[in-house]
Amino acid sequence: MTDTKTTKHRLRSQDWFDNRDHVDMAAIYLERFMNYGITPEELRSGKPVIGIAQSGSDLTPCNRHHVDLARRVRDGIRDAGGIPIEFPTHPIFENCKRPTAALDRNLAYLGLVEILYGYPLDGVVLTTGCDKTTPSALMAASTVDIPAIVLSGGPMLDGWHDGDLVGSGTVIWRSRRKLAAGAIDEEEFLQAAMDSAPSIGHCNTMGTASTMNALAEALGMSLTGCAAIPAAYRERGQIAYRTGRRAVELVLEDIRPSHILTRQAFLNAIRVNSAIGGSTNAQPHLMAMAKHAGVALEPDDWQRYGYDIPLLADVQPAGRFLGERFHRAGGVPAIMRELLEAGKLDGSCPTVTGRTMAQNLEGRAASDREVIRSYDAPLKERAGFLVLKGNLFDFAIMKTSVISEEFRQRYLSEPGREGIFEGRAAVFDGSEDYHARINDPALGIDERTILVIRGAGPLGWPGSAEVVNMQPPDHLLRRGVTSLPTIGDGRQSGTADSPSILNASPESAAGGGLAWLRTGDIIRIDLEHGRCDLMVAQEEIERRKADGIPAVPADATPWQRLYRQTVTQLSDGAVIDGAADFRRIAETPPRH
Ligand code: FES
Ligand code: MG
Repeated sequence: MTDTKTTKHRLRSQDWFDNRDHVDMAAIYLERFMNYGITPEELRSGKPVIGIAQSGSDLTPCNRHHVDLARRVRDGIRDAGGIPIEFPTHPIFENCKRPTAALDRNLAYLGLVEILYGYPLDGVVLTTGCDKTTPSALMAASTVDIPAIVLSGGPMLDGWHDGDLVGSGTVIWRSRRKLAAGAIDEEEFLQAAMDSAPSIGHCNTMGTASTMNALAEALGMSLTGCAAIPAAYRERGQIAYRTGRRAVELVLEDIRPSHILTRQAFLNAIRVNSAIGGSTNAQPHLMAMAKHAGVALEPDDWQRYGYDIPLLADVQPAGRFLGERFHRAGGVPAIMRELLEAGKLDGSCPTVTGRTMAQNLEGRAASDREVIRSYDAPLKERAGFLVLKGNLFDFAIMKTSVISEEFRQRYLSEPGREGIFEGRAAVFDGSEDYHARINDPALGIDERTILVIRGAGPLGWPGSAEVVNMQPPDHLLRRGVTSLPTIGDGRQSGTADSPSILNASPESAAGGGLAWLRTGDIIRIDLEHGRCDLMVAQEEIERRKADGIPAVPADATPWQRLYRQTVTQLSDGAVIDGAADFRRIAETPPRH
């Protein structure tokens, strides 16, 4: 049964299918859709045409179950009186795409913009999951500004190995250290990794995938509670159906991303990111989404609004549990409810439900206080990102929720100099150089050394790579030193538990201060004042500039060249320079 609804405003799809001034063109637009059962009569009846942006495929296994979920989305769209049209998006598989999936985010964005703009779509369901699939989809939805709703795919079930919870990514970083220290062999390493992936879904830790889907919900772009439902749960199919239904209503009500993605919504997302112990990749992605939404978000907003927020979610890598427990404890709505009651959330923000965020959160208190803490009794106080600057870079972030007590004691607790650390730099040009030399005794790495990697930013890698969470040399690991301070112009995996200084902008390849650093230089980190400086005289730095910027690999594909010609720095979201000038482009129909 279909309850056909109509709307007061003329749908943009009617400009294709029901255009009386261009009957010849309408005929051409209409005829081929009959091949899969959509009749010209139906297409001309004024029913909303809803795209399903399909991000799942064999090349994006984290999202692959969207291929099945889309059937439920279609049912929802049909039952609400809409016409579903499913189409593929450019695949982005975090773990497999070389030289990095980050290179593909802007490409997927461009592709989706062209599809949403150039085809007869009135609204879109954005299927998301693996890290960059979420920001690329939301960036495109903002640029085009047709009604859009996020359907995340959900995390995998909890993984277990040897009686312990093992989470995506985090198990790799932890097993790597055990392998280097000789505590496990390669066989066990592989088995622990396999055990961390027990079902369909995206990473089950609070890595970049879980983070970005949580933030999509925090922004108001998905149904309440959507982000945390595990991929294999019955509820996942149910919310897919409801998301399809709601997409049709969004078109009828003309609720568009530009109504929802306000500065207040982005500040809410920054605060939620701190409370969930979210990925450091949220910084460039949220910034990119804000740019395309036309929202003025400053790099410093991460510290201004996010740093004081406590850690509430006891989820790996900052905590202990994984996606299933987080969902059962109440998921993102329970976190947001804590923030709302503490006066740290703007509850008036509109959302895709058609209600305000505060209305969505009614009755959504946490049900398991072991996993989701109350605001007054958090896991950690002040758990957001610190923003650092100095003569090495204008901007970098540090995720404070993963600073262990042991690390704090070792590096940041010298009496009278709390939060200050000075160490000798060991500098690596890219990860090949790191792997080749980290165990080289000539570098003299000890527990006072700061590991630095450069050539890992958007221009340098290219794409910006998750390589800054470098582990110490084997001789230190064997002595129990599991992390050294690290700095880099690349990123680190959202599943990593190292307190690195990341996303340094401008990067070395753009002539940032890291380019002039040499092994043996002293670096001074002052967390209290948000500084990170190279303790070398300015004349000496000037002299080194004559040596030129450290070399980076040549472009290997046409896109790499275009990407490098257009990309901005991580502090600005590594977006395509100038693309943010294009906003709400669907308001002007494309020519025939
Ligand atoms: Fe795809 Fe983590 S690798 S979600
Ligand atoms: Mg990653």
